[in-house]
Amino acid sequence: MKSLRSIATIAIATLGLFCAGASYAAPDATRLGSSTPLAAMHKDKKVTCKGCHEEKNQEKIVVDDNETVVNATCVECHGTLAEMAKEKKEHLTPHQSHLGLMNCTSCHSGHSQSKTYCNNCHTFDMPIPGGTAAIKRVKPVPADSRPVEKTDIIVIGAGAAGFTAAITAHDGGAKVILLEKQPITGGNSALSAGGMNATETAFQKKKGIKDSVDVMIQDTMKGGGNHNNPELVRILATQSASSVDWLTSIGADISDIGQMAGATNYRTHRPTGGAAVGAHITKVLKKNAADRKIDVRVNSKVLKLVEDGKGKVIGVVVEGKHSGTYTILAKAVVMAAGGFSANQTLVGQYQPQFVGMTTSNQPGATGDGMLIGEQGGGQLIDMKEIQIHPTVAAGSRILITEAVRGNGAILINRNGKRFVNELTTRDKASQAVLAQPGGSAFLVFDSVIHKSLKQIDGYFELGLVKEGATLAELAQAMGAPADTLAQSLDTYNKAFEAKKDAEFGRADLPRAIRTPKFYAIEIKPGIHYTMGGLQINAETQVIGKHGQPIPGFYAAGEVTGGVHGKNRLGGNSISETITFGRIAGANALKAVKNSK
Ligand code: FUM
Repeated sequence: MKSLRSIATIAIATLGLFCAGASYAAPDATRLGSSTPLAAMHKDKKVTCKGCHEEKNQEKIVVDDNETVVNATCVECHGTLAEMAKEKKEHLTPHQSHLGLMNCTSCHSGHSQSKTYCNNCHTFDMPIPGGTAAIKRVKPVPADSRPVEKTDIIVIGAGAAGFTAAITAHDGGAKVILLEKQPITGGNSALSAGGMNATETAFQKKKGIKDSVDVMIQDTMKGGGNHNNPELVRILATQSASSVDWLTSIGADISDIGQMAGATNYRTHRPTGGAAVGAHITKVLKKNAADRKIDVRVNSKVLKLVEDGKGKVIGVVVEGKHSGTYTILAKAVVMAAGGFSANQTLVGQYQPQFVGMTTSNQPGATGDGMLIGEQGGGQLIDMKEIQIHPTVAAGSRILITEAVRGNGAILINRNGKRFVNELTTRDKASQAVLAQPGGSAFLVFDSVIHKSLKQIDGYFELGLVKEGATLAELAQAMGAPADTLAQSLDTYNKAFEAKKDAEFGRADLPRAIRTPKFYAIEIKPGIHYTMGGLQINAETQVIGKHGQPIPGFYAAGEVTGGVHGKNRLGGNSISETITFGRIAGANALKAVKNSK
């Protein structure tokens, strides 16, 4: 890394270049506002506007939506994120993020207040250099003067479904543009914890796990209250093994297998040691897109679909953060923009009682894709089906994965009592937690369960875990009566020995809870997933209000409705994104080939 000490040297060496003939030679407090600490800091170091902005002439500030030049300049002076993280001595540094490669400008800005992107989900008290003034756009280019771009396929939303569709279509020979409205790619997929459900996989066979397509279908239908589209569920289960193979073939490690709520068998595939699946596969998908030089554009929000006047979708209108509004025409459009758990207004429209509840989702999960699709003629279904996840760390947006319960943790209320089958479906578990005193509960586990699942380390790092060398100490930390807690664990451990949970009927009792230290994480339910969305058929074509597929328009992932019915099973989301992302990419590709 070029050390911060060398910044001044670089700046002075390049100053001549920056200053020549520039009308924006130095940050100017009157232009940028009176409090622009980041710009001002750079000014102090003799780095000028041109150090970040690629100035093409004296009239325009030209910054592309990926903010490529700005970020390259940050890296040139400060080093890469990995280098900066290494230099930092504290154990937590925002430069080492599970979200993978990010732009510096996702958090830092010279012109508006810098914000720690992580604080969308966490609450880190991290000072960040930055100012509060707003950028003034200089003579923006009018939308209609810009040439219309053309490509084969546009994919909207760079989560797992979007990346998968884009890679699949690219590998079949299509030219693809992948648009993401957030400053970073990954969407909710990057936050996904538990794993990817798949059945009859090579990994299951290797571990001697007996499972079948039929049992996965039965579990998924039962979990969804039999409200699911059976054709889509069959596809999910039948193609799940080949989706695992596909992910593995592009570099993912999902060889560990656990169990999630509502599943009869162990089928939740995840990285070795039980690490979080989302961060890992997002990294793999991003790398594959980058290796293929797929045109991925962040800060690029789709405003609407373009239609040919006869009902065929032929493109999109995009608003780039810097480039303004422009149009891209394509032979097919794949919508993969996710759900709406982070949109309180939309949630309130369908389930008013959930307003004010926390969400485990990233801030971009606002349902725009569904609304844009509906405006484009698509049919929305099951919009009322909103899933509450029982275990979000109290007072936060951090999901405590169901895999913690899958690996043996139990739920205990503040009276020290167990109250539910921890592996019942999420709707039932959430209702049970909300019915407890204070509407919250504790996930309780011991050191053996801790060691069994790598993801738990992260909860320690985030300071979410209470602990005790004895159960009495843990009870004190939880504010629960020690004798009741001890009694609850004793009863549970006897159930484990007898392989029968007479109290709550939990079928899988993988581990006793008796090896110190003992741990507890306080949890509350939070809005986690929206089962409804655009109606699709088996080819992932979006179905119009007239009941027929809309030509040129495909959708995959959480933006669609039908796969999960009234309640999604944990692990079925990543599975859906990969399987239906592949189908959408392949069918969009077919549409391109048929149009030639
Ligand atoms: O609890 C979890 O790990 C969630 C997984 C999922 O929603 O699929």
